[in-house]
Amino acid sequence: MTQNAPQKDMSFTSKDQPLLEVRNLQKYFPIRGGILSRVVANVKAVDDVSFSLKRGEVVGLVGESGSGKTTVGRSILRLIEPTGGEVKFEGVDITKLSKSQMREYRKKMQIIFQDPFASLNPRMTVADIIGEALQIHHIGTPQERTERVGTLLKRVGLLPEHMRRYPHEFSGGQRQRIGIARALAVNPSFIVADEPVSALDVSIQAQVVNLIQDLQQEMNLTVLFIAHDLAVVEYICDRVIVMYLGRVMEIATSRELYQNPKHPYTEALLSAAPIPDPTVKRERIILEGDIPSPINPPSGCVFRTRCRYAIAECATKVPDLREVTPGHFKACIRDDIL
Ligand SMILES: Nc1ncnc2c1ncn2[C@@H]1O[C@H](COP(=O)(O)OP(=O)(O)OP(=O)(O)O)[C@@H](O)[C@H]1O
Ligand code: SF4
Ligand SMILES: [Mg+2]
Repeated sequence: MTQNAPQKDMSFTSKDQPLLEVRNLQKYFPIRGGILSRVVANVKAVDDVSFSLKRGEVVGLVGESGSGKTTVGRSILRLIEPTGGEVKFEGVDITKLSKSQMREYRKKMQIIFQDPFASLNPRMTVADIIGEALQIHHIGTPQERTERVGTLLKRVGLLPEHMRRYPHEFSGGQRQRIGIARALAVNPSFIVADEPVSALDVSIQAQVVNLIQDLQQEMNLTVLFIAHDLAVVEYICDRVIVMYLGRVMEIATSRELYQNPKHPYTEALLSAAPIPDPTVKRERIILEGDIPSPINPPSGCVFRTRCRYAIAECATKVPDLREVTPGHFKACIRDDIL
């Protein structure tokens, strides 16, 4: 082992060790200005986010637009570099790895992008798009790679002969299937699915969600499923992380979160979601105003400017994410409200 080789954290056995541990993750985007192009402010897209995922778990990441979900997903994969914090994958903090050390982990961690129109190179054939990662990681001979692409296409509901075509020859749903095949080509153990169906026609969303769910079970994938649509998350996820303005507000199992939300922001989000059972009535909470700017977020609890339970104390300190019942965490100082 060379001196710089990544150190495995041996304090866990591989069975009970989380596959992914995110600790105090931070991503600030600098805003530059003036003739010297100095940093004049920062967009605090993700601030002090911590959570962990067990092997084979599907965890939802929800929150309004701009809450930092995509930034979390991309920072974990180092598609963008985090400003601070740790991302431990199989016990190794991958934020400290060099480009070449990172290569091994790139294979294990993949992403399905939101927009299947923008995320597939229009000048590449489907075979090249899906086979690219195999080639980069020197997996198989050219013939073996072609066979693998054919198998993957069949598995995602397309035909092997589609590999000679270009992205524009496919519908949105089919393109997303190609995106899924591309993510799975190198046999990853972890997938970030960034709103994988929100750009698709409502009529085909369920098929694509079902495909992801089947593949997750077949391959025992660990999935971070980013979504707006709470119904999809409830259906597919074991646990849910709720984010607002770059911070985690609540973490609980899907069932617990839906039946017994403990954070005012989750309560408001759920009140806006349609309920399939018409006999169940839920008060609709209108969140007043827009999400504040992440350049200058409110002091203390970032949700306080829109929270109907806010009190003076909420402005003084960022609430800790604390465990209120086993496995149920919330970042809110009040225990007398929900
Ligand atoms: N490259 C960037 N430079 C500056 N600001 C950025 C950059 N990328 C994201 N942001 C800002 O960071 C914040 C979080 O963005 P992010 O895309 O992570 O949110 P999101 O929760 O994924 O939203 P959506 O639901 O719309 O996809 C937003 O305020 C966004 O404008
Ligand atoms: S800490 Fe205060 S402002 Fe924040 S969610 Fe709780 S009650 Fe609302
Ligand atoms: Mg996003």
